[in-house]
Amino acid sequence: MSSFRESTGGAGDEMAADRNFVVVASRLPVDRVEGPGGETVWRPSPGGLVTALEPVMRQAGGAWIGWSGDAGPEPGPFEADGLHLVGIGLSETEVRDFYEGFCNATLWPLYHDVIAPPQFHRRWWEAYVAVNRRFAQAAAAHAAHGATVWVHDYQLQLVPRMLRQQRGDVRIGFFNHIPFPGYEIFAQLPWRRQVVEGLLGADLLGFQRRADASNFLRACRRAAGLTAKGPTVRVNDQGRTREVRAAAFPISIDAAALTEMAQREDVRKRSGDIRQALGEPDIVLLGVDRLDYTKGILHRLRAYGELLREGRLGSQVVLVQVASPSRERVEAYQALRDEVEVMVGRINGQHGEVGYPPVHYLHQSYPREEMAALYLAADVMLVTPLRDGMNLVAKEYVACRYDESGALVLSEFTGAADELAGAFLVNPHDIEGLKDAIVRAASIGPAEARRRMRAMRRRVLEHDVARWAATFLDALDRAPCGADQSPP
Ligand code: G6P
Repeated sequence: MSSFRESTGGAGDEMAADRNFVVVASRLPVDRVEGPGGETVWRPSPGGLVTALEPVMRQAGGAWIGWSGDAGPEPGPFEADGLHLVGIGLSETEVRDFYEGFCNATLWPLYHDVIAPPQFHRRWWEAYVAVNRRFAQAAAAHAAHGATVWVHDYQLQLVPRMLRQQRGDVRIGFFNHIPFPGYEIFAQLPWRRQVVEGLLGADLLGFQRRADASNFLRACRRAAGLTAKGPTVRVNDQGRTREVRAAAFPISIDAAALTEMAQREDVRKRSGDIRQALGEPDIVLLGVDRLDYTKGILHRLRAYGELLREGRLGSQVVLVQVASPSRERVEAYQALRDEVEVMVGRINGQHGEVGYPPVHYLHQSYPREEMAALYLAADVMLVTPLRDGMNLVAKEYVACRYDESGALVLSEFTGAADELAGAFLVNPHDIEGLKDAIVRAASIGPAEARRRMRAMRRRVLEHDVARWAATFLDALDRAPCGADQSPP
């Protein structure tokens, strides 16, 4: 979505239940900012999801229900560049208890293999239930009879069931963008049964990897005592039996658009300027992440620091680490930032020279063009999460390398590792193995680089985000539907 016209919020709402396709996601595809006169204006925040769903939204006259990202009054429905958006409001307390609390200090660490200890608070759970109910009510208010509703991610796992209870006529899909943990971990959640039952309100549940779908099916058996046959769970809804399917639908990016952007003259020039600003080193390593403890940034820095000490990469090497600010009021994120910044300071202090910091650390977010230029400037991309549902950065790097050069070091604990066989796969906990992979990736010849990158590019360009959305929606269309399709 490149051209959202700015639009004022809160425009008159008819609240008509007339949308044949409804997306329900925690975030709106726009950010609320203050205009020159203090008024609310909406700026696009284009991501892969909106790019993929925009055509379907336009064709079906769809609606997108989501939160603007800050505390404040309910924006309600408004139009932005012909798209119908419905803003959900969260109070200060809800931002604390729902967003920062249950979503990002309970579910996020729990679903990422308890890398950070999850916290369980009953007050947070109550906020999660209340906010999920509000999203479900908004979906119920806007969906036309027999509509398709697609709910997204861990913030909204109760919405499918809540919506089905209000609207027996709609078809409901759910996609989980993050991992679904093994049962031994999931079982820690005091509200595990409610979460499983919440999800089972859907007709089709999509996960990133087959392992995630299997973990969910096991949770259905263990936490809710249900029987699962293959990918299908039988659910009893007030005397009626429904079948719910759980399967893998690995998400992707708008690969062609990124390739095109990377080929642009201005982006290529910027990439040259970046290398020049870095002092024309022999090797540029790049990390791009939200500043999140799941991303393995500390492991990466430790490996790099040791390689510098051992001199295995030569003296002409730099690491650019973009760590975009994220969830900054959550304690574990504050602690991580401190640790990362101490380690960057230590590496630069020990191995730097005047005019040469071996780590360029950027705690900022950048526009997509700048990211494409950075990807183009990097000889080796380091993607080392300890756990990641997919990791789209790995796919973005591949999409930008239109000349088939460059190398990718990729953690085997990402969904992307299932698809990108041309990468140097690593276990980021194994620092020696990680160091060896970085050295190998930095020293391969052009022919091997081309062979590896070509295979990865083929995969990413063929399996793009539009194909992902079409595959999911097609499967949802064909799923045995629990909807009561009799006319209103
Ligand atoms: C992950 C989640 C998304 C989330 C995004 C940014 O990719 O899967 O649902 O929106 O992180 O996190 P934030 O907390 O800023 O929404």
